[in-house]
Amino acid sequence: MDTPKRYTVTAALPYANGPIHLGHLAGVYVPADVYVRYLRQKGRDVIFICGSDEHGVPITIKARREGITPQQVVDKYNAIIRDSFAEFGISFDNYSRTSAPIHHKTASEFFRKMYDAGQFVEQESEQYYDPEAKQFLADRYITGTCPRCGAEGAYGDQCEKCGSTLSPSELIDPKSALSGATPILKKTKHWYLPLQQYESWLRQWILEGHKADWKPNVYGQVKSWLDDGLRPRAVTRDLDWGIPVPVEGAEGKVLYVWFDAPIGYISSTKEWADREGKDWEPYWKSADTKLVHFIGKDNIVFHCIIFPAMLRAHGEYILPDNVPANEFLNLEGNKLSTSRNWAVWLDQYLVDFPGKQDVLRYALIATAPETKDNDFTWRDFQNRNNSELVAILGNFVNRVMVLTHKYYGGVVPSSQHLNEADREVLDQMRKYPSILGDSIEKYRFREALSEMMNLARLGNKYLADNEPWKTQKTDPERTEAVMYTAVQIAGALATLCEPFLPFAAASLAKMLDIRPLTWDEVAQAQSIVPSGHRLGQPALLFEKIEDAPIEAQLKRLEDSRLANIAAEKAAEPQKETVSYDEFDRMDIRVGTIVEAEKVPKAKKLLKLTIDTGIDRRTVVSGIAESFSAEEVVGRQVCVLVNLAPREIKGILSNGMILMTEHPDGRLEFVAPSRKVKEGAQVR
Ligand code: 2FM
Ligand code: ZN
Repeated sequence: MDTPKRYTVTAALPYANGPIHLGHLAGVYVPADVYVRYLRQKGRDVIFICGSDEHGVPITIKARREGITPQQVVDKYNAIIRDSFAEFGISFDNYSRTSAPIHHKTASEFFRKMYDAGQFVEQESEQYYDPEAKQFLADRYITGTCPRCGAEGAYGDQCEKCGSTLSPSELIDPKSALSGATPILKKTKHWYLPLQQYESWLRQWILEGHKADWKPNVYGQVKSWLDDGLRPRAVTRDLDWGIPVPVEGAEGKVLYVWFDAPIGYISSTKEWADREGKDWEPYWKSADTKLVHFIGKDNIVFHCIIFPAMLRAHGEYILPDNVPANEFLNLEGNKLSTSRNWAVWLDQYLVDFPGKQDVLRYALIATAPETKDNDFTWRDFQNRNNSELVAILGNFVNRVMVLTHKYYGGVVPSSQHLNEADREVLDQMRKYPSILGDSIEKYRFREALSEMMNLARLGNKYLADNEPWKTQKTDPERTEAVMYTAVQIAGALATLCEPFLPFAAASLAKMLDIRPLTWDEVAQAQSIVPSGHRLGQPALLFEKIEDAPIEAQLKRLEDSRLANIAAEKAAEPQKETVSYDEFDRMDIRVGTIVEAEKVPKAKKLLKLTIDTGIDRRTVVSGIAESFSAEEVVGRQVCVLVNLAPREIKGILSNGMILMTEHPDGRLEFVAPSRKVKEGAQVR
């Protein structure tokens, strides 16, 4: 598209059933925010639209689990998400919610228009029903074994292990997530969007029209969906949480969350327009508007196939010009997981690292999973802060500020004595707006960020090459020229770092005491910070991050890891039933360890002599990695005394002591809580 007249930029509506984490930020919200801030700097007419996705089964499941209503769940998380985005500097023009009346109205009307135009297929089919909970089991209400990868616990709509999209009927051994009951099949009526009718149009629009400008990961996923062939997709559900299907005879049914959520972009735009006294329609209906959806990779099919088909069927709307979805961000080498608490939560980060929004923004852009999955580590976060933000950008700005104050009392010196080389550096600086802009417009935010840092590097190199601290005594005119030039670079950075580091940009502008120029002004202005202008006071743009806060984060993750191991262990399925008689055949006694020694050449083994009350006997036990020989002497233990003797490392072991295990693998004795007489039975 030629230069569009306006931009509608959307970021995926997050589910209001938990806080935002790093994966969301890196995949969707930070890149979208960089893009929008850049467009604003370019003076383009742009709106940045988002809101909470408040319907769907995960929200009702969370409500059930916590014993509260779905409304309470979404009220809680909508507030947390909205506030943390604002504090993090994600600069939405509007953040709405899909429970808002304007959204219910917009989504109902959208459905109704398609319904009236005969664009749905009404069909009765047999679907899973929980006879105990008396409810149909849509999407995540049903779990079972994945037919593709064999993982247990796959959902009715998706397997989280292998990422396959599923339908409930495909699950092997399905179970209700509500009651655990085996579901029965029951007839129910739903409305389907006949996606296959849009297949050839989608092929033409995407496969022919967007091969060059859509990211290969997005294009590839869409192509494989289209090559597999599209099938009708139900757009209604039997649920009591959502937008009622606006059709007679549809009582107890709501719109499928993935039907209503993307319409949320439109309703959020309406809410913005009402508030600002604007007209929302050109942002969604004019061909000269560029619509861009920022999403994560798990949302590609909905934004590239289903929502465009809905928009086309409706007939009045434009289609996305691009859907620059990212891949996934892993954390410390493992897949992010909400349920396993393997995540860094934004609201927590803001508490743990107050005032350090830009550091996380920087680290996330620098490691953004733009073309393939990528890994976030806390050490990388620390290094990027200390060796890049502090050592390159912060250091350059600091030198400029301190030297200008030292030599000129904070007043920008004259540009009269610039030489060829200085002018050359200023010319190079003026190229950066277009270098960065080209990358950003191609959704290459990592590249853009690294170019922005190259400008700071250029500034550092320029100072190092020209050594104003040396010329100040010998050649004051030369120093003036150098310091003037360096101040211009700092001024350019105040504009050019803003999309990535909005907080630092504001501090830098304050330090320089300037109104930052626009993107194009940086490229064109003769002078960014004019001679004679008085700078503000120097302050540190970034501070070093020490090891302690990083180690605290790593410790938190380690705690999650151990808790997960413990949970998995606790969840080990119960063994087969045994009869009382079988249990009674085991003779377990309390005994006291009277002697202990390491078994030579066996890392794990201790040779114990135990007073069992019946006798003194030898037991070889694999506890040497958890206990030393000395510390176990005198301990009371439970011993299975009628276990058949066994030779271990040449020693006859006559019984077995009962142990349990900590999450980290350390062993623990199972023993009476108070001392009892040796030989007492355990039963
Ligand atoms: O994956 C998700 O978090 C969804 N709530 C995204 C919805 S995007 C849009 F369609 F609203
Ligand atoms: Zn699977």
